[in-house]
Amino acid sequence: MSSRDGQQGETAPQLRIPTHVAIIMDGNGRWAQARGLPRLAGHRAGTENLRRIIEACVEFGIRYLTIYAFSTENWARPRDEVEGLMSIMEEVIDKEVPELHRQGVQIRHIGALEGVRPELQRKIREAIELTRHNQRLVLVVAFNYGGRAEIVHAVRQILAAGLKPEEVTEAIFAQYLYTAGIPDPDLVIRTSGEQRISNFLLWQTAYSEWYFTPVYWPDFDKAELRKALEAYSRRERRFGRVSAVDMSAAPRDG
Ligand code: IPE
Ligand code: IPE
Ligand code: MG
Repeated sequence: MSSRDGQQGETAPQLRIPTHVAIIMDGNGRWAQARGLPRLAGHRAGTENLRRIIEACVEFGIRYLTIYAFSTENWARPRDEVEGLMSIMEEVIDKEVPELHRQGVQIRHIGALEGVRPELQRKIREAIELTRHNQRLVLVVAFNYGGRAEIVHAVRQILAAGLKPEEVTEAIFAQYLYTAGIPDPDLVIRTSGEQRISNFLLWQTAYSEWYFTPVYWPDFDKAELRKALEAYSRRERRFGRVSAVDMSAAPRDG
C-alpha cells in the first residue's frame, strides 16, 4: 500500500488519538472478486475484520467508533446481496454482542429501523439495551443510514416539536440528529480507494480530517489503522482560523 500521507516521516510522530473515528468500510465486493469468491464472502471477511478493528480501537484508547454498515442507497443492490447482508447482520449480532458487552462496548444505532425486517429490528434494539451502560468504547453502527434522510428526519422532529424559527440554532439542530450527544468525528477513514462521502454523516463531518487508503476493508488491519492515526497526528486542524504557526509569527497589534 502506498498512501502519500501514510508514509513514515524521519521520526515517528507522537500518536495523537482522536476521540471519534468514523469508517466507511468499503471494498468487500472487490476483495472477494479479486479472489474469485462471491461478494457475500467479502462481506463475511469484512465483519471478521470489524471485530479486530474494534479491539484495536479499544487498545488505542479511541472512545467513539462509527462504522458505515449499510446505507439507505444499498437497498438498490441485487436482492440476494441485500438478503445476505441482512442475514450476516443478524449472525454478527448473535455471535459478537455478548463478547462486545464483556469488553465494555456500548452499541448505538444511527439510521432508520423502519423497513428493516422485524427479527433484525428486535436484535438491534436488544443489543442497544444490553450495552447501554458500557463506557469503554461507543460503537455507533450506521445501518440503513443516509445523511440526507437524517437531516430531513431532524427537520420533521423540530417541526413536530413546534420550535420557533429563532430557536433553531446549530446546537439545537444537532440534538435532533441520530447522533445527538455524540461528538463529531475527528477522523474519517474510507477504504478501497474511493474518495467520496456516499451520504455518510453529512452534517457531522463539517470539520473532520479525511484519510483515504486503497486497501480493501477486509485487509484494513491494526497496522493500517495505525498509519491512519499517524497521518491524523501530523494534521493541523484549523476550523477556519489561521494556523498556529502563522499566529506566532504575526506581529501583535495594540
Ligand atoms: C462495502 O463494500 C460494504 C457495503 C456497502 C455493505 P462494498 O460491497 O461496497 O464493496 P465494493 O465497493 O463493491 O468493492
Ligand atoms: C458506502 O459504500 C456505504 C457503506 C460502506 C456501507 P458504497 O459502496 O455503497 O458507496 P458507493 O456506492 O461506492 O458510493
Ligand atoms: Mg462499495
